[in-house]
Amino acid sequence: ALERTFSIIKPDATKRNLTGQIAAKFEEAGLRIVASKRIQLTLAQAQTFYGVHKDRPFFDELCEFMISEPIVVQVLEGENAIAKNREVMGATNPADAAEGTIRKEFALSIGENSVHGSDAPETAAEEIAFFFSGLELVG
Ligand code: CMP
Repeated sequence: ALERTFSIIKPDATKRNLTGQIAAKFEEAGLRIVASKRIQLTLAQAQTFYGVHKDRPFFDELCEFMISEPIVVQVLEGENAIAKNREVMGATNPADAAEGTIRKEFALSIGENSVHGSDAPETAAEEIAFFFSGLELVG
């Protein structure tokens, strides 16, 4: 089915000027970028967005990293967009990521792993709504 998913190009990637190369990977996979903006998160926004991880040992490090530089938040649309985006991103830990994936090519570590993507339809809807209004989604 035609789906939408939420994507973040993370600080390690924006800092290294990889926004275009990462967006190209999405487009080459048949995902359409129907919304896109470059923003810098506040600590409160990062903590809210990653609230599900608040009891994890890496939570503070994760939030500090996510506010350290601008990010690019995007909505990607396509057939099975959630699974397709996860395939293009590769495994969370770049050491485990398959050849040709974004994380294999660009990620530096499990924390500085260049991209985030929604893991399920419910989280995709929540994450899109956190960053975008309906008017900003232009299929
Ligand atoms: P993301 O998809 O953005 O969702 C949660 C993030 O936590 C994940 O990608 C990783 O970048 C990060 N993460 C997971 N495990 C660790 C870890 N052990 N140390 C630092 N960051 C981590």
